[in-house]
This record gives sequence, C-alpha cells and structure tokens, in this order.
Amino acid sequence: MENLHNKKILLIISGGIAAYKILDLIRNLKKKNCEIKTILTDSAKEFVTSLSIASLSQNKVYDNKFDISNELEMDHIALSRWSDIILIAPTTANLLSRLASGSADDFISTVISAANKDIFLVPAMNVEMWNNPATQENIKKLINFNYKFIGPISGELACGEIGEGKMSSINEIENTLEHYFIKKNKKFSKQKALVTAGPTREYLDPVRYLSNESSGKQGFEIAKKLLEVGFDTTLVTGPTNINYPDELNVIKVTTAQQMLNACQNLLPVDIAVCAAAIVDFNPEYKNEKIKKDELFEYNLKLNKNIDVLEYLSNHNKNRPGLVIGFAAETENVLENALKKLNKKRCDWIVANDVSDKSIGFNSDNNEVTIIYKNQKIEKISKVSKTEIASEIVNRIINSTENKNVRNIS
Ligand code: CTP
Repeated sequence: MENLHNKKILLIISGGIAAYKILDLIRNLKKKNCEIKTILTDSAKEFVTSLSIASLSQNKVYDNKFDISNELEMDHIALSRWSDIILIAPTTANLLSRLASGSADDFISTVISAANKDIFLVPAMNVEMWNNPATQENIKKLINFNYKFIGPISGELACGEIGEGKMSSINEIENTLEHYFIKKNKKFSKQKALVTAGPTREYLDPVRYLSNESSGKQGFEIAKKLLEVGFDTTLVTGPTNINYPDELNVIKVTTAQQMLNACQNLLPVDIAVCAAAIVDFNPEYKNEKIKKDELFEYNLKLNKNIDVLEYLSNHNKNRPGLVIGFAAETENVLENALKKLNKKRCDWIVANDVSDKSIGFNSDNNEVTIIYKNQKIEKISKVSKTEIASEIVNRIINSTENKNVRNIS
C-alpha cells in the first residue's frame, strides 16, 4: 500500500510514557515518504527529546510556545494549512480535556482551534483515567466535534494495571492513517462488502434456544475497517451487545434462516466475510413453552441449517469476487480449517483456536492463521481484534487493488 506516500503529517506529541514509541512511528512514516513536522508539549520533552525527533523526522520541531520567528510566518495557522492531517500521539487525559473545552491559550491549542484538517487522537492513559466520567464526557464531546480516535486498546498498562487505556500499536496507527487516505481517494466507494457476525439463536420454544459464545467482536471490527477504507459495508449480525457506528449498515437477525435471507437479499456484493458463528442445527419449534415434566418425553430433533458461507461461495450468478470464511477450531486447527476451505470453496479461511480462552470467542484479542485457496499460509500473532481486522482488510485491499473484485475468482 502506497497511500501515505508524500503525505504531510503534523504530529503533536503530548507527555505520556507511550511517547517513546512515537520515535518508531516517525521512522516508519519517513520510510513511507511522509513529511512530518512535530510540536512537543513541555511534558513530552520529559520522555523524548526535540533532537531525537528532529533527527528522525529530518524536519522542524516546535515547542508549545509562541515564538516570534515562527509567528512571522503565522505558524499557528500555517501548520495546519501545510498538513494533510494532524495526529496527536499519545494524547493525554489532560490534552483531551483541553481540546474538549476549546482552549486556545498556548501554541498547540491555537494550532488545533485554527485547524482545517482532520485530527486523529491516539489516547494513552491509566484505565481509571480513561474510565473517569469527566474523560468519558470529553470523549463524547470530541467525537461530536469530529475528532477521530485511534484506540485506546485493552492490555497491560505502563503502570502495571490491566485494562483499557493502552495506546494502539504503531502498526495500527499507520494502518488507520493508510485507510484514511484510501477512503479519501474513493478507491472502493463503489464496491460492496458484506460481513456476517455474532451467534444465531435457534429456538426450541418461545423462551429457550440453542446458541454459542460468539461475541460478534471480530466480524464487527472487520466491518468497521472495511467501512474505514470506503467499502459500502453491511453487517448482518446475530444478537450481540455491541454498539454500532451510525455510518455502518447493520441488519440485525436472530436465526440462521434470517441470516441467510438477509445475505441473499444483499447480493450482488464484491466481498463477503463470514465471521458469524451460525448454529448448525435448528430444533423442531414448539409454540408453547415446553413444561419441565414433558422434557422427559421430549426428543430433541435437529434439522441442519443452510451454510451461508458455502451458499455464497458456490453461488452461480452472484458469487462475490472474494469470499472469506472463518474456522473456529479446538483441535487440529490448520488441518480442519483447510478441510473447510476445500469443502466450502471459499477463497481464504481465517483459522482460530477457540480452545485458548485468551483469544477467540468473547476475548478482545485474537491470533489467526489465514489459509489461501493456493494453500499459502500466513500467521497473524496475538493482537487486538481491531488489529487483526486491519491486517485482514489490508490483505483484502492488496488482493483487490486495481482489479474488478467481482471478477477475481
Ligand atoms: N458458517 C456459515 N453457515 C453455517 C455454519 C458456518 O456460514 N450454517 C460459516 C461460518 O461463518 C464460518 C465457517 O462457516 O465462516 C466455518 O464455521 P465453523 O463454525 O468453524 O464450522 P462449521 O462449518 O460449523 O463446522 P464444524 O461445526 O463441524 O466445525
């Protein structure tokens, strides 16, 4: 992906321990031919030096002060006009609060209030600071003001506590910026993506059902990333507790049959990602609640549900150009996943080991292996589900760029 080539980034570094990681970000962005100008807060200088930033970025580094020589060029206005985007990484709780209140009493806050470019915030802080009602209120305000957030994610924090507040990885920050410019170029705006997610419920009677542990997170993150790069994306999801962004088309379903119907109605699409954990069977349905005493005589009869992934992969007229399945396995992960790829005739299968509780179902993290139709295998080591989604979407972009997706297979 060459989407960051020649892009101008105004980087603002505020004072958190994660600031040291930004040195790597600068190095990587320079390799992608970005131009970077940096402003450091005073407290950021406790963690990184102007000299190291200037050496890596090969460009000017500003202090958070009005400087007569800079202001002759009206830098508090000129900097945002020069840039393609503004990136504030890490963003501390204090800076979030100052941005939310519209402060304009130092160089950074005046640059931001005079800015005419999209601003990305990359929060990093202790979990309690992140969860603090004042911080959460500020975040709501900032989302309303159109600031874009990258993370934070859950994990072990610098202070040793575990929870949400950890800065997104450098890789994820780069991916998000790449995706932003892909969307701006409207490369995929005419292409449709369909993602299935979550569990289904197969009812025995009005109150009981068969289901599974799927949280829907992985499919949801993939749908969000496809939307982020500009695909016209629809998520067909079984029951979950996830809040969806307004821009995402979401079709909520309950049963496997409803999920199939929703997918059929969405065809033709360019890309289909089947991440749903669809229940494989549906029981005979009783209109009245089955009484406890009747349960002894009740013989649970199951009918097989249609396989949505198999249906899409084998569609004669409207097969999506790229069909991606998931394989949730507890043993012989790769062998079983390969069998599914061949049997269902999808293009890629993303295998994950759901016997490991730290990844897969209900967890925030995942570790997957992608098996391609040509038998090539690629492992993505344990990272957040958001980052797994970025990695999968990057591969989708690479395989579809400059191609008419509906004709790939
Ligand atoms: N899938 C589907 N429709 C079904 C069952 C599964 O579309 N009725 C899709 C899932 O979304 C996933 C892939 O098929 O992309 C594999 O699902 P998985 O639950 O791992 O496997 P199953 O096909 O259900 O097989 P098994 O339960 O025997 O492992």
